[in-house]
Amino acid sequence: MPDTTPRLTNRPQWTALEDHRAAQRQVHLRDLFATDPGRARRYTARVGDLHIDYSKHLITDETLALLQELATATDVFGQRDAMFRGEKINTTEDRAVLHTALRAPRGAVIEVDGVDVVPQVHAVLDKMAVFADKVRSGAWTGHTGKRIKNVVNVGIGGSDLGPAMAYEVLRPFTDRSLTVRFVSNVDGADLHEAVRDLDPAETLFVIASKTFTTIETITNATSARSWLLKSLGDESAVAKHFVALSTNAEKVAEFGIDTANMFEFWDWVGGRYSYDSAIGLSLMIAIGPDAFREMLDGFHLVDEHFRTAPAESNVPLLLGLLGVWYGNFHGAQSHAVLPYSHYLSKFTAYLQQLDMESNGKSVDREGRPVDWQTGPVVWGTPGTNGQHAYYQLIHQGTKLIPADLIGFASPVGELSAELADQHDLLMANLFAQGQALAFGKTADEVRAEGVPEAQVPHRTFQGNHPTTTILASELTPSVLGQLIALYEHKVFVQGAIWHIDSFDQWGVELGKVLAKRVEPALTEGADVPGLDASTQALVATYRTLRKK
Ligand code: F6P
Repeated sequence: MPDTTPRLTNRPQWTALEDHRAAQRQVHLRDLFATDPGRARRYTARVGDLHIDYSKHLITDETLALLQELATATDVFGQRDAMFRGEKINTTEDRAVLHTALRAPRGAVIEVDGVDVVPQVHAVLDKMAVFADKVRSGAWTGHTGKRIKNVVNVGIGGSDLGPAMAYEVLRPFTDRSLTVRFVSNVDGADLHEAVRDLDPAETLFVIASKTFTTIETITNATSARSWLLKSLGDESAVAKHFVALSTNAEKVAEFGIDTANMFEFWDWVGGRYSYDSAIGLSLMIAIGPDAFREMLDGFHLVDEHFRTAPAESNVPLLLGLLGVWYGNFHGAQSHAVLPYSHYLSKFTAYLQQLDMESNGKSVDREGRPVDWQTGPVVWGTPGTNGQHAYYQLIHQGTKLIPADLIGFASPVGELSAELADQHDLLMANLFAQGQALAFGKTADEVRAEGVPEAQVPHRTFQGNHPTTTILASELTPSVLGQLIALYEHKVFVQGAIWHIDSFDQWGVELGKVLAKRVEPALTEGADVPGLDASTQALVATYRTLRKK
């Protein structure tokens, strides 16, 4: 039967938003606040421990109502329910999308192909907890009987970014006697630097790969094994120094890791949605099973909010709609995530995969080219550092860059009183930036300061730059889970509206295939048929310059 659903841009709700945008062209946040005293209070939401201020957005009640109508027309909640029910919404891979089951409480029932997956999830979590406790207590020793002091996670993409980010975020909760490192790059320098000062007899490698075929990970894992065996001599050492996190038992066994030391997950967990699965083992070893479970509870809290909160107060829906508003109706190409927390230094890099691998698509679910913008470029680093680097462009450049400012009421960890006192200055910067971005500084205000006329344009800030401020009392494991689930569901909402498959990633395949094809040209000078003239010349230059 032919598909008679109107395409997104032909929907009346879309056209209504276009008209609304055209009518709103002159609106400034200064005016929106001046004419609506209740705005700051009204445009504030709460989910779990997260307090969200979205008043500094280029929106009115009418904008929100029109965006909600678009969400209803595109059946965002119907699609959400299908995901939570375990339907195979990742159609190009014919898979269910059930990262929400990874944090479902014991006793919940979630079925895939008629099988309740929650008991399996908890069986793996329990197995991880037993293992993590053994490593942490010293009961799990290396081949020579020495205690494990170092954990090296080897993985890439979703098998690296999540645990590496969360380890950084939760450093204050980690066992500081353990050294935990993350190796992802196939550049040998990554593994070299990670292990150069470690004693192999005290080192555990956690090989994280959903498929266990990813060339970077298998190459690094093979080199890690050689490094270990060079020192410990005996093949049997592998059993005490290597564990695997994977869905592919066959490949794990082929690599030489005992499948008794494999922590399993399932094809209904996408790589970029996997760090709360077995992929989080290194993190669990670092922070302990209790803190890991607290983090899962934080995820679950936001899952439940997304699943049950009405549209008007559903925060992931709201954030998703705001992204659509800027990307599709204001022409914004990127979205900045600017945490005011040192511990969140890897947070945006993690979100890049979550958002850009999910929604970087240009065909819809039926394979037809889209004629609307999809996922934004997501970028950013901790805010105070960014202020002295690229904020100039956000304030006075020519691009509209909506941003999230994330901060906490209290510092976490064992800071000295003096360092803890710096926290107010850190947060003063967050609040000041939100204010400066929204309201700017008019030419008249600049003149009133006695600035020479020629300099007035340079010192004027137009303002009108939208931000969401996300505040929580402290950056705990639960709050981290809440934040990640919030972004996961925001990404879901946008993919649902754009009618794309947010859960496949075919775009990464071509580069992988070509790299395999080109490699023999580099190593052996082999003639690679079909190599374009530019790449051929680059390969030849590389071979001339390469020192062996
Ligand atoms: O190449 C992209 C990707 O498939 C990601 O989606 C995934 O997170 C990453 O590679 C690593 O894959 P794996 O866990 O199978 O090694």
